[in-house]
Parts: sequence; C-alpha cells; structure tokens
Amino acid sequence: MARRKLIYEGKAKILYDGPEPGTYVQYFKDDATAFNAGKKDVIEGKGVLNNRLSEFFMNGLQQIGVPTHFIKRLNMREQLIRQCEIIPLEVIVRNYAAGTMAKRLGMEEGTQLPRPIVEFSYKDDSLGDPLVPEEYIAAFGWASQQDLDDIVSIALKVNDFISGVMYGVGIKLVDFKIEIGRVWDNDFQRLVVADEISPDSCRLWDIETGRKLDKDVFRRDLGDLADAYTEVAKRLGVLPTNTAQMPKPTLIN
Ligand code: CDP
Repeated sequence: MARRKLIYEGKAKILYDGPEPGTYVQYFKDDATAFNAGKKDVIEGKGVLNNRLSEFFMNGLQQIGVPTHFIKRLNMREQLIRQCEIIPLEVIVRNYAAGTMAKRLGMEEGTQLPRPIVEFSYKDDSLGDPLVPEEYIAAFGWASQQDLDDIVSIALKVNDFISGVMYGVGIKLVDFKIEIGRVWDNDFQRLVVADEISPDSCRLWDIETGRKLDKDVFRRDLGDLADAYTEVAKRLGVLPTNTAQMPKPTLIN
C-alpha cells in the first residue's frame, strides 16, 4: 500500500494528506508535552481519548451552528478534516483565573473573572507563544479587524457551549485555547474552529472536589493523565473505559 503523504508533524498530532482534495487526516499521538516541550512523556491512550473528545465537541459545535474543520472520525486515532489556513493565533478564553493569567496578575487560581475574557497569543514556539494585543494582530496582518470580531464571537460561542456541556456533568470550564482556520469557497473565506478541543487545551475542574481533569495533571505531576481524561470522557458518555488499561491482544502462534 502506498504511504500517505505527511503534511506536518506537531507535538501531539500529525497531519497527512486526505483521501479527497481539500481534506487532511489528523492523527492523535500519545505524546504529551508542556512548558513549550520542556517536559515530555508518552501517555498511553491519550491520543485515542483526545480523538474522541475532540470529535464530540466539534460535532456539538456544528450542531449549534458553529462551523469547524471536522468532517468525521475515521478510526481510534484519526479524523478526517477540511484543509484550512491556520491563523497564527492561539485564541484563549478564560472564565476563572489560572495558569499564566493568575501568575501575571498575581491572582489566586480559581478566582471567577467578571466576564469571560478572550486573549490572543502569537503562535510561535521559538518565542514561547507571546501574548499579543489586537492592535498587533491587525497591524501585522495576521487577521483583519473583521476577522478578529468574528473570532471573538466564535470563541464566546465555543465558551458557552463547552461551559454548558461541562456544567451538565459536574465540571467547571476554567479556560481553553482554540485555533481558527480560514476555508476558501471560491473567493469567499469562512472562519472555522480548527485543530482540536480536548483536555490538552482546556482547564477542567471537578465542580465538587476541584480535582483537575486536564493537562495540568501532567504539567504539575498530579497523577495519571489518561485516568483524568477518561473521567471526562466517561461523564460525557464518549468512552466508557481507559483504553490504556484494557487487556492487550495476545499473539497466537
Ligand atoms: O497553560 P499555560 O499556563 O502555559 O498558559 P495559559 O495561557 O494559562 O493557558 C490558557 C489555556 O489555554 C489552558 O487551558 C491551556 O491548556 C491552553 N493552552 C494551550 O492549549 N496551548 C498553548 N500553547 C497555550 C495554552
């Protein structure tokens, strides 16, 4: 069988050329990285969980009218997506202070913000994804003012949706990151939610106990990451068991 053409390999995912023009296959790896890849590990089963969870959120978003790059899940680790031009911004929405915001402003983690706050980082690992004001984004042409207005509106819809879904299963959406892509239909561009939505890119805290159910478990050595992600998947009815702990098939000679 012919090998698929590799388009791009990132820290947690690989993109291959898709079966039809205008599509890619997005493969979810088990690799976990934090602190700009300063900390690395392989967490068995993480890719399977994130593939399912991202499918769940992207499907839900499409259902409520928020366009995404997701077409369909292909198998345990792969999904078919639409090719798009990624806007070089990390779009972060925060409901409670945590992570870099808590550090930067000297706020206690978990402090509720007066309203959801949308912020942008310039996507460049070598610079550590620096926080940038909207002024820079328009001036450097990374996105137009109209794009920015649309991005904020999409980001807030995603926030309402994921916050609501998570609240329903006893989880608080503290913050998250999305990426936005441009899709061209002839001369017209549409913005779509791209990349992934998973506990790798969200902060999720159990409402009752405060238990962290996201990548902070890995960043801060708080326990088993696959267990935390499985808990999220279980509550959402997405995957019932931790696949990393399932018995392995044995080879019969
Ligand atoms: O995660 P960290 O403290 O470095 O940065 P943050 O700005 O507090 O992150 C806000 C949210 O965006 C968290 O849910 C992160 O997991 C997510 N994020 C991400 O997915 N990828 C990045 N490169 C940066 C943040």
